[in-house]
Order: sequence, then C-alpha cells, then structure tokens
Amino acid sequence: MTTVLKMSDVNVTFTSGWGRRRTRSRAMKDVTLEVEAGRTLGVVGESGSGKSTTGSVALGLRRPDSGTVEVLGRPAAERGRALRGRVQAVLQHPHWSLNPRRRVGVSVREPLAVAARRLGREEQRERVVRILEQVGLDAATADRYPHELSGGQRQRVSVARALITEPGFIVFDEAVSALDVSVQSQILELIRELQASHTFGALFISHDLAAVRRVADTIAVMRHGEVLETAPAERFFTDPAHEYSRRLLAAL
Ligand SMILES: Nc1ncnc2c1ncn2[C@@H]1O[C@H](COP(=O)(O)OP(=O)(O)O)[C@@H](O)[C@H]1O
Ligand SMILES: [Mg+2]
Repeated sequence: MTTVLKMSDVNVTFTSGWGRRRTRSRAMKDVTLEVEAGRTLGVVGESGSGKSTTGSVALGLRRPDSGTVEVLGRPAAERGRALRGRVQAVLQHPHWSLNPRRRVGVSVREPLAVAARRLGREEQRERVVRILEQVGLDAATADRYPHELSGGQRQRVSVARALITEPGFIVFDEAVSALDVSVQSQILELIRELQASHTFGALFISHDLAAVRRVADTIAVMRHGEVLETAPAERFFTDPAHEYSRRLLAAL
C-alpha cells in the first residue's frame, strides 16, 4: 500500500510577544503520523491541541522546526511545484475558499488553472459539471453565487473544488464543524462515498469524535501538541489504550 503522508518527529514551536513577555508554545511535539492511499486518518483532540498546525504542516504551508514531512513521496515543501493540484484542503468555513463575488463554477474551476493549464475551456466546463454532480449538486449550481446556497451546499462546493484536480491527498480541517448535525451527516457520508470512487488519502481533523468516527479508518489522539495514541478505528472505539482517550470516548 502506498503512503500519501509520512510525517516523522515533527516539532513546531510558536513564539509570541516581545522582550520579557515573550512566550513559547510547542504546538507539535515529535509528531509522527502516516496516511495511506485511499484511507482516512482522523485526528482528534481538544481545541489548542495542535491539530490545525499538523494540517498546515501536512499541506506544506508551515515549515516545521525539525522533523520530516513527505506527501505523495515528495517533501511537503514542494507543494508549489511537483505537488501542485495533487494536494488539496477543505476548511471549516467555505467562505475561506469561495470568493463571494464569483459564481460557483468559477471557484470550482480555479484550481484547474494552475494544475491542468492545458485543458481546453470546454473540457474544464465539463469537468466542473461532472464534479458538481458527484458532490450532489446540479449543473445549474455553477451559475449561482455562494450566498444563494445553503451552508451544506456551500461545503459541497468546497469539496468539489478540492476534488477537481483529482488530488492524491486531502486535508479536511473541521470541515463539518460549522454545519447542523443532519447536514454534517450528509457531508460525512459524501466524503466516504467520494473516497471510494476517487481513492484519495485524507487527514480528517476535528475536535468532534463523533464526526471522526463516521469517516476515519485510523484515529490519532492529540493533546498539548503530542500524539498520545494512534490506533485502527475499530480498536480505538472498543479498547482505547490511553486514559485520555477513554475520557474522550466517555464524553461521546
Ligand atoms: N500562528 C500562531 N501563532 C502563535 N501561536 C499559535 C499559532 N497557531 C497556533 N498557535 C498555538 O499553537 C497551539 C496549537 O494550535 P492549533 O494547531 O490551532 O490547535 P487546534 O487546531 O487543535 O485547536 C495552540 O496553543 C495555539 O494557541
Ligand atoms: Mg484547529
């Protein structure tokens, strides 16, 4: 099986403030994680535990102080070159990736402009329609503006935008956290279905263990920047190894 994310002994420390007020916080401590092709690693933990930092390091957006990060067999820092279009992200708020003044079809097509420049206009348009249909939206959605859609529809658009370049690896960071429970459920189901047909590996980050449970094959628990436990989902939910994991499960 091929590995799409291989993170070894990654450390990230943030410093903030000046002079005597200068403080350091270790957002990632010797983090080691792997995501396999076609599989989902769920990362759970309370707010501030280092999940989003882990996501941005995996996306090559933040360079760690130490450790190595390989995505699809290349250093994550190559995001702008060899990995262009091969790695995508779906974030909590669709408005972070959807321009409110642009029609949905334009936003969905946008990643193709850098990743598949040679595709003709007509071919690009066809791809947009096809991907919108795959995320459960009709072709006419392409002509709508984000504010004309519901929260769930907007998040489907974000998923379409992430998928259009056929990435090998996708980072979902709190991708369903802003949605109502019933809409969350639909989007989680959609992610599962799409993974079966598109075979991307995923890092699914959420503070919500119930959401992670719906999509993850493997679970990693983070606290204070550390991975406390990594386990196959089945085993994690029946027999967690760490005391802290047991507490998270009890709260579920
Ligand atoms: N840009 C930043 N500057 C300073 N500290 C940060 C920054 N981003 C995150 N942190 C700190 O790093 C820790 C982990 O944050 P984060 O990765 O966002 O956690 P999570 O996503 O699990 O809530 C927190 O203590 C947070 O305050
Ligand atoms: Mg976060």
